[in-house]
Amino acid sequence: MKKIFSGVQPSGSFTIGNYIGAMKRFVDLQDEGDCLFCIVNLHSLTVPKDAELLRQYTMQLAAMYLSIGIDPNKSTIFIQSQVPEHAELGWLMQCTGYIGELERMTQYKDKSQGKEVVTVGLLTYPALMAADILLYNTTHVPVGEDQKQHLEFTRDMAQRFNKKYGETFIVPEPMIQQLGGRIMSLDDPSKKMSKSNPNSGSYIALLDEPKAIEKKIKRAVTDSEGVVRYDKENKPAVSNLLTIYAACTGDSIENIVKTYEGRGYGDFKKDLAEVVIETLVPIQENYKRWMDSPELHTILKNGAHKAHALASETMDKVKRNMGLVTL
Ligand code: AQP
Repeated sequence: MKKIFSGVQPSGSFTIGNYIGAMKRFVDLQDEGDCLFCIVNLHSLTVPKDAELLRQYTMQLAAMYLSIGIDPNKSTIFIQSQVPEHAELGWLMQCTGYIGELERMTQYKDKSQGKEVVTVGLLTYPALMAADILLYNTTHVPVGEDQKQHLEFTRDMAQRFNKKYGETFIVPEPMIQQLGGRIMSLDDPSKKMSKSNPNSGSYIALLDEPKAIEKKIKRAVTDSEGVVRYDKENKPAVSNLLTIYAACTGDSIENIVKTYEGRGYGDFKKDLAEVVIETLVPIQENYKRWMDSPELHTILKNGAHKAHALASETMDKVKRNMGLVTL
């Protein structure tokens, strides 16, 4: 039986990149193993946030998990900061990792570039992420391609720890989608679509109104060739739009390209807006219901309770193996 763990940061309006790259997959995985889906609010603090906004994003993400189809009777949904073992093992992972390894992380380099001040947490983020995963004997981690390097670090941490202190952790496998593992910005296909991008035209948010979706797709950059075909290297913008189309419809890129033979970008973009709207509207309707539901708090409390029981078992083992006295 697979043990599956993944998390999303409550750091803004979740994008169709988060959905296609990771969250959509969570729903199917519920029938493949024991799943824990975490709202990683401690990770959000690595780039300081307004407290009220963080609270709102946290509850919104809980509602979003449920709205996309995560079933609380099958999976555990919880908030990271409600399970103190994450921060505790995070510290022990910081004492296992090396500064050089963390400084080489591309996400750290990207997010710290040009910033006047950078938090220590932004550098040590992968150590906390390793803790998140290792606490639950995780065997599989569904993530977008941008998290691949952090996953490799997690695997290194598990192996290093096991070698030094004896078998403690399972070494987890990443699950990264071939198609859709990296959805690019609508305004710049060389950059990953990101919810914290200050230009909201660069991403489609899961809660965008249909009119906004149409407008954003209409304005999305393409190229001067005018032919709908998939060529990631020479036509990155159109290939990205094709990927979004394929992920939303489940159709193959080949079929979609055939449909638009001899037709221009105008037709393609119009239909793409339609398929994105068709994908997001049912999620948005569920979302409204979940945001108003008193059940949301109960689900998160139960989730934290279950996660805490599992995490504390791992922490007992970790402490014993490391020589941390428990009286
Ligand atoms: N553009 C993307 N394409 C495919 N997958 C993506 N993911 C993020 N962006 C894309 C995947 O979504 C999951 C949750 O991401 P996260 O919230 O942990 O943070 P992130 O990877 O840093 O995503 P963002 O949207 O860029 O957030 P901010 O702007 O706050 O940093 C992960 O599995 C991620 O791989």
